[in-house]
Amino acid sequence: MAVNEPDGPELNKHIWSLYREFFTRAERRRRWNIEDDIPWDQCNPDTAPEIADVVETFCAVELFLPDYVGKALPLVRGIRGRAWFLANWGYEESKHSLVLQEWLVRSGHRTWHQIEEASNWAVFNEWNLPQTDIRGMSCYTMAQELATWLHYRNLRNIIGNTDPALNKVLQLVSIDERAHFDFYVKVMKLHLADDRAGTLRQLKDVLNGFAMPATHLMADSIQRQQRVRELNIFNDDLFYSEVLMPIMSALDIDKSELRNRSLVKKSLPEATPAG
Ligand SMILES: [Fe+2]
Ligand SMILES: [Fe+2]
Repeated sequence: MAVNEPDGPELNKHIWSLYREFFTRAERRRRWNIEDDIPWDQCNPDTAPEIADVVETFCAVELFLPDYVGKALPLVRGIRGRAWFLANWGYEESKHSLVLQEWLVRSGHRTWHQIEEASNWAVFNEWNLPQTDIRGMSCYTMAQELATWLHYRNLRNIIGNTDPALNKVLQLVSIDERAHFDFYVKVMKLHLADDRAGTLRQLKDVLNGFAMPATHLMADSIQRQQRVRELNIFNDDLFYSEVLMPIMSALDIDKSELRNRSLVKKSLPEATPAG
């Protein structure tokens, strides 16, 4: 199977089963409600402004949803498991930006007017797919979901019980991100079984050039990324120990495999490094 062509029918059948399993589980165990499931009366107005800035950054990243869904969907529209997953994923991600902005306002850190303004500047630039084909996007999205989970988990660890409302928001959102990662791990296992050498090559390219989505597209991107690093929420070391290594172990890949050039098929096209 050439990487730029839609997946083979066998692989697609498996992806549909993975999606059905994912969706059933999500409906049973993971659905939550913005109004009812957060202790909104326990927002802490004294939570540090740096934390509120980081929440606003996370919210802004989630606001690029129209690009994430709109640009990925045409790539997978003929593959039901992937297309349906993307639709459901979009619903879950849309809740993330909603619940984060709800906290920003209810905690008194932002007004609705400021949220409105941020919603506009956040999507002033367009996000584009960091990979040009379906398998490359699977590699990228898997890494991105785990990295996103890590951002939320680390911020949650920082605030602890000082803001029970934000703590709950971060808990619910990080559980969703982890479920997204788990889905892509299963998809990647199918790709590895289908074409181990080609998949490893793309994965290597993605991990080497990994960057979080949309963070470079905001007006004050540099300061925002700096703040995330200062709070030790995400940096190169954390990417290595908490994203790259867990991915290798989840996919049962030995480090030497990513170094072994003999695994690389000469016929495969170069994958675009992640943006
Ligand atoms: Fe999200
Ligand atoms: Fe996600």
